[in-house]
Amino acid sequence: MITIDLLLSPLSLLLLSLSTILIILHTTTSSRRNHHSPPGATGIPFIGETLQLISAYKTENPEPFIDTRVEKYGVVFTTHVFGERTVFSADGETNRFILKNEGRLFESSYPGSIANLVGKNSLLLMRGGLHRRMHSLTMSFANSTIIKDHLLVDIDRLVRLNLDAWTGRILLMDEAKKITFELTLKQLLSIEPFEWSENLRKEYMLVIEGFFCIPLPFFPLTYRRAIQARKRVTEALHLVVRERRVERERGVKKNDMLAALFDNDCDDDEIVDLLVSLLVAGYDTTPTTMTLAVKYLTDTPSALAQLKEEHEQITRKKGALVALEWDDYKSMPFTQCVVNETLRLSNIISGVFRRAMTDVKIKDFTIPKGSKVFASLRAVHLDLENFEDARVFYPWRWQKISDPANFMPFGGGPRRCPGHELARVALSVFLHHLITRFSWIPAEEDKLVFFPTTRTQKRYPIIVQKRNVVE
Ligand code: HEM
Ligand SMILES: *[C@@H]1O[C@H](CO)[C@@H](O)[C@H](O)[C@H]1NC(C)=O
Ligand SMILES: *[C@@H]1O[C@H](CO)[C@@H](O)[C@H](O)[C@H]1NC(C)=O
Repeated sequence: MITIDLLLSPLSLLLLSLSTILIILHTTTSSRRNHHSPPGATGIPFIGETLQLISAYKTENPEPFIDTRVEKYGVVFTTHVFGERTVFSADGETNRFILKNEGRLFESSYPGSIANLVGKNSLLLMRGGLHRRMHSLTMSFANSTIIKDHLLVDIDRLVRLNLDAWTGRILLMDEAKKITFELTLKQLLSIEPFEWSENLRKEYMLVIEGFFCIPLPFFPLTYRRAIQARKRVTEALHLVVRERRVERERGVKKNDMLAALFDNDCDDDEIVDLLVSLLVAGYDTTPTTMTLAVKYLTDTPSALAQLKEEHEQITRKKGALVALEWDDYKSMPFTQCVVNETLRLSNIISGVFRRAMTDVKIKDFTIPKGSKVFASLRAVHLDLENFEDARVFYPWRWQKISDPANFMPFGGGPRRCPGHELARVALSVFLHHLITRFSWIPAEEDKLVFFPTTRTQKRYPIIVQKRNVVE
């Protein structure tokens, strides 16, 4: 979705070739004009500091890119990445200010290639009153009341159904994606997993790949494939929506997102775009968090042991292989620490892009109207001033944190992730069934990287073994 991640790679290659020509003509100074805007260096023409950023984020430890600049210029600095001068905020207070003032001082800003893939009616691209209405509609299908009363049953059932089939070596990331996609289809459209959904998911993966490329004459293939796949996905969804409209006219009622969209008088095109964007929003984020939680736990046996104890207590009370209920979810305090710590450390969405709608004064600087702004959530989460031993997985810290103001894995303000509670519940239920039913070991060494997206290089292969559960 919105990360630094996606604005990626073929673009930088193009910029590289352009700039080799241009470097010959130009030379490299950068600390231009506007002494009011945040200090910084904008690197070489056109490429700016993009290559430094990419090479940092391709390692397990991208922090030096931010650390060196914060040290030199302060927590808000100017850089030049992905083709544009960008004000980079590594400051919690500034980030909160930026997010809160969405639509007034700043607005979200996505490249056109992404717009083509998600569709013009996607929540990501909506503005103003329409955005407010659709954001709250999305929230009302994913808020805690709905999860408690309706969604939890399906989440629990689909997680267990998927885990039933696990044996031997699995790629955890792929399995987690399959679970999440099935959950989302069920919640949006009341569709149960079967061949249709698995085929749709394959098309979907092509659409997602398209997010990681920019439509340029040199690199057309992935993007063209993605656009074609998007067409097939939208056709399939249109068919479902049309059928459901007919059913509805005959008086059949269903309780899902689609029904809410019908109630809201959306037309079919709007509905399909919105469905596509919701499928995109959840497809990479939740499964990556699931995978990384398991990786952090595997690498931290004392945390895994404590989590196991918490979940075995639940199964001892109610029996194994029994569906989790809301009260069970609410009695997993250490699980919530693990979830927060995973979100803090992995930063699936490392930050969000905005554009200043007017000259904005922040701290001692003015961010000039029209500037690109990157509010880095990652930088704040990994700042040693905000969290003790910030770069270490230490879930116990959450037993002491009382004011998590500097913790914003789901963003904030009017665009705060409407799926935040859903993601937490899915993650907790997944961890419960995994931990009580399986033991596992990593099948190979695997490494975390942060570019083009946060992920492990090998999709985290593990070998699972069913535990003997007493019913
Ligand atoms: C661990 C999982 C997730 C993380 C870390 C995450 C993070 C985020 C963040 C940081 C934003 C703000 C983007 C911005 O301000 O520009 C966002 C927006 C969004 N998320 Fe999530 N998300 C997750 C899961 C989900 C799920 C499961 C859904 C499905 C309902 C979802 C739907 C959305 C939508 C529709 C938006 C756009 C909101 C808007 O622009 O108004 N997300 N997410
Ligand atoms: C969640 O949304 C429903 C409408 O779908 C609403 O009735 C309920 O009050 C909301 N719950 C919370 C906790 O906001
Ligand atoms: C996890 O973070 C949220 C803020 O996103 C906070 O409200 C909650 O209390 C935290 N949970 C724990 C166990 O600290």
